[in-house]
Amino acid sequence: MSVTVDPIIDKRLLVTGAAGFIGANFCHHWLRKHPRTTLVALDALTYAGNRHNLEGLEQHAGFRFVQGDINDAPLVERLMTDHHLNVVVHFAAESHVDRSIHDPDAFIQTNIIGTHNLLRVAKNLWLDGPQGRIPHRFHHISTDEVYGTLGPQDPPFREATPYAPNSPYAASKAGADHLVRAYQHTYGLSTTTSNCSNNYGPYHFPEKLIPLIIVNILHNKPLPLYGDGRQIRDWLYVEDHCRGIAAILEQGREGESYNIGGCNEWANIDIVLLIGQIMDELFASDPRWLQAYPHSAAAQGRKSADLIQHVRDRPGHDRRYAIDATKITRELGFQPAVDFPTGIRQTILWYLEHPKWWRAVMDGSYCQWLERQYEGDGHYRA
Ligand code: NAD
Ligand code: TYD
Repeated sequence: MSVTVDPIIDKRLLVTGAAGFIGANFCHHWLRKHPRTTLVALDALTYAGNRHNLEGLEQHAGFRFVQGDINDAPLVERLMTDHHLNVVVHFAAESHVDRSIHDPDAFIQTNIIGTHNLLRVAKNLWLDGPQGRIPHRFHHISTDEVYGTLGPQDPPFREATPYAPNSPYAASKAGADHLVRAYQHTYGLSTTTSNCSNNYGPYHFPEKLIPLIIVNILHNKPLPLYGDGRQIRDWLYVEDHCRGIAAILEQGREGESYNIGGCNEWANIDIVLLIGQIMDELFASDPRWLQAYPHSAAAQGRKSADLIQHVRDRPGHDRRYAIDATKITRELGFQPAVDFPTGIRQTILWYLEHPKWWRAVMDGSYCQWLERQYEGDGHYRA
């Protein structure tokens, strides 16, 4: 079922997972664009959530941060009722594939059961409340990983590509996507879903490839590439993803899914080489960085590329992701604005300029994670 509904003039948002990487970027983006809107930011502040990512937003009268779990139905219901919220933008998730391989339980709990909890509360309030149906929208943030993996010559993922998730993370996101679809189809909840490719940019937690490589270069540590390093991802600057989500909230059709991508396929090894090259150049051209980072590869007289180490491959590692974003371009006029060399340079500079941010998130639990994932006796496993 696909119908167009009246746009919601006064959007009052519940943003879940608002203190994570993309959620925080989205809150900044949305409030820059709509400084007077109501935006309730809900986040459980798991290891990946960081209250500091939302700093500066308190200046907006309509902004409020609440620490809480999407599985807590009474809390979600109270927030939605008290603030008269009519839009959910659902980012909250366990998001790291490697963690899902070690510990899938949390992924099922948050990504599937947590999403269902939000859908149930939304249905109760927006469809089954005393006033009957009220104008609303539930936007679910999903991933291209639900489509599985591509061969080198396969066409990119389209919205109609059958789901074939390969990791517990991807399967849990696929489960959530199906629940969103079912609530629209069965109950008439007004939903949209977006399936986006790999994001990069400020506030990216340094367990993921790009920020991990940047901080490891700053510590003169090995740069771990899984397997042959020739796996391909499509990379999108996070601000562009936020623009795409905003376009869907503003003009997206109920019941529809939209693929969002960068049209920007890169093999992992080429990204690591590019980051290394840009960082070597930045350190060579500006002595300020050598002073700020005395333990970095450059300060130790090494080329970043020399730190590359091929390590054991991820089990079930998807070989290639690529997105066909024709639909969102055709229907909503959306196109990425930031090219990869520009975005990656901006991202590197953001990490160089915000050591307090990444040092604070690299706490005890982060070190335990690195130990578990990469290290035995202080060395990466080959
Ligand atoms: P992230 O791990 O940086 O942030 C997730 C946030 O959700 C964290 O702040 C965490 O504290 C919060 N959270 C986790 N469990 C929660 C719970 N039970 N209740 C409330 N909050 C909870 O992830 P991200 O990269 O910002 O991803 C955000 C969304 O975008 C996810 O749904 C992810 O699947 C999707 N996505 C991410 C990418 C990417 O490249 N990072 C690409 C496509 C889609
Ligand atoms: P990641 O950032 O974890 O995103 P995703 O798995 O969701 O695509 O990984 C991006 C790619 O980089 C993926 O092919 C796995 C690879 N990778 C490495 O080679 N080494 C690493 O240390 C990490 C974290 C990822």
